[in-house]
Amino acid sequence: MGFLLCFSLLVLLAAPYLEGGSAQRHRAVRAQRPRGGSSPMPSETTASFWVSISPKLMTVELGSSVWLNCSSNCPLLESPVLHTGLRRGLTLSGPNWVSFQLLDVRTWSSDVRCFVTCARVTRGATARINTYKGPQSVILEPPVLEGREHTLRCHVTHVFPVRFLVVTLRRSGRVIYSESLERFTGLDLANVTLTYAFPAKPNDYGQLVTCHAHLNLDGLVVHGSSAPMALSFLTWSTRSKALASTCIAALVGILLAVGAACLRKYLLMQSRA
Ligand SMILES: *[C@@H]1O[C@H](CO)[C@@H](O)[C@H](O)[C@H]1NC(C)=O
Ligand SMILES: *[C@@H]1O[C@H](CO)[C@@H](O)[C@H](O)[C@H]1NC(C)=O
Repeated sequence: MGFLLCFSLLVLLAAPYLEGGSAQRHRAVRAQRPRGGSSPMPSETTASFWVSISPKLMTVELGSSVWLNCSSNCPLLESPVLHTGLRRGLTLSGPNWVSFQLLDVRTWSSDVRCFVTCARVTRGATARINTYKGPQSVILEPPVLEGREHTLRCHVTHVFPVRFLVVTLRRSGRVIYSESLERFTGLDLANVTLTYAFPAKPNDYGQLVTCHAHLNLDGLVVHGSSAPMALSFLTWSTRSKALASTCIAALVGILLAVGAACLRKYLLMQSRA
């Protein structure tokens, strides 16, 4: 990217919007985990006993409700025990499975554990629920032409998780700049501002520029775009405006001088006639 002159990026973290207490709850859950869960099996009857939870990994929009299915090859004489900090909803069950609904998931990442006891042996399985929030808005400010450079400023608001966000700038549909925000590992909703400057060329004027935000979550892409903005003379900076008015003043001065000379010549000719 030879024409890259200037680039800066700003990420503002929103006030702790997501549930803060979740980490503590998870620690408490881990401490409660029965010891027998990972110890060797005492007898052959339980050696092939398994517990499974599905899906193992889910990525859902902030505030969604989800279903998790906990099953085992051991007939469920007593209901499986679910350990989660999330709010519980409905429950469905079959001979060797129980399906749990979890409501309004607002924790950015949450582990849910299901424990089944079979012949006095307890085993568990874990599922992870990750959340995301697509950009609330993608706003491209009107481009500013200062000196011989266009500056584009794009705002992406209320997005999460920022490390999966890619912000792209396009001119007449072609990508002129793209930035992946992997290095921002914050765990809150964020506002991102991308600033990019590039040299102005005579054929730029009137071309449309747009800003695009992509949240790439394994297999799932959430996308937002700005309204197009035109690169234009109308957004001249004050400096170029000042220069322009100096030029116009000089031109008017020259015209006045020429006019006065013509008038004098005309009057001279009139007086001779
Ligand atoms: C992010 O942007 C939104 C919308 O412009 C605004 O209401 C909010 O206060 C901003 N948050 C931060 C942390 O700047
Ligand atoms: C839960 O999983 C079991 C075993 O895989 C399956 O038989 C059952 O239909 C599932 N229940 C729901 C509600 O998906």
